[in-house]
Amino acid sequence: MSSFFNLQSEVIIGNLTQTGLSNWLNNHYAECKKVIFVDSNTMEYCLPLLINFIDGLENAEIIEIPSGEENKTMEICFSVWESLTEYEFTRSDLFICLGGGMICDMGGFISSLYKRGMNCIYIPTSLLAMVDASIGGKTGIDMGPYKNHLGVFSFPKKVYIDIDFLNTLPQREIINGWAEMLKHALVADADHYTALENFDVKDSIIPLDWVEKSLMIKHEIVESDPKESGRRKLLNFGHTIGHAIEGVLLNSEHSMDHGLAVAHGILVEAKISRLLNRLTSEEFERIEKSITKTFELRKFDEDFISKLPLLMRQDKKRKDNKFRFTLLSGIGSGEIDVVVDESVVFDALQVLL
Ligand code: GLY
Repeated sequence: MSSFFNLQSEVIIGNLTQTGLSNWLNNHYAECKKVIFVDSNTMEYCLPLLINFIDGLENAEIIEIPSGEENKTMEICFSVWESLTEYEFTRSDLFICLGGGMICDMGGFISSLYKRGMNCIYIPTSLLAMVDASIGGKTGIDMGPYKNHLGVFSFPKKVYIDIDFLNTLPQREIINGWAEMLKHALVADADHYTALENFDVKDSIIPLDWVEKSLMIKHEIVESDPKESGRRKLLNFGHTIGHAIEGVLLNSEHSMDHGLAVAHGILVEAKISRLLNRLTSEEFERIEKSITKTFELRKFDEDFISKLPLLMRQDKKRKDNKFRFTLLSGIGSGEIDVVVDESVVFDALQVLL
């Protein structure tokens, strides 16, 4: 077991039953109410592990929401706040998020606003949540097609990372998290990228030390810039385009997982980096190869591509009416706040046709 502090959260990595969670609950929350926030997947596959093996959660209330990004809405938040109110939760009771990125983002948002903020812990169960969503205090929900448009920075007291939960995931979910792992390596660690690009994630189990490496890259970046005034924007690589794709498809019958959308975004934003001569053609080809070998990329048409700029205008990095991207100036080296002409963005988007 290992642990460290990320901003205001203690992050504990290890088997959940051996992390001292029961003792901590007993020492600090024995007399308090607890609620476990799950979606329909984690209700079925993860909640039994928690209830059966962690003392102190036998009487916890369970709040379940439907799984799927289309449910990351204010309406669902409102229904959770109503349930907390009916159960007479106070701000000193405990809100436990058990799930992937959506549950951590949304549960963090819900708990941070309820009665001006109640105690919260995260138990991330997806690779994406372990290496990304649970670290760094970003919480949020979507507003229509705009991803994480409403949110606050708020820090859980504890984040418990137990990679055994990855065994409950379908391969599609592992691949979603892989996109964020590739992103971390591309913006910050060339050697780690070399290891990842030569790995076949579809047929192998990801080593624990790579998961730790990835979350430590995120940890180090957010510690240096908690509120994203500068360096943290590195973590947005692949997301300006990725969020726009996800947003256009949200609520359609062809909606796209976040990780897969980010994979498309990485490809397009690597292409922008290449068009601006920040990447060599060999570097771009390495990235293209690692994306296409793992992700089943979709082909889009001109009509779809023409819809993306409208959503990109709401990108949280946007300033002075200009498109600003995090790009690569080499593998392992991200560069923030690069102003890019719309024509270059359009040229790069052609890789999606
Ligand atoms: N997921 C990007 C960040 O936390 O900054």
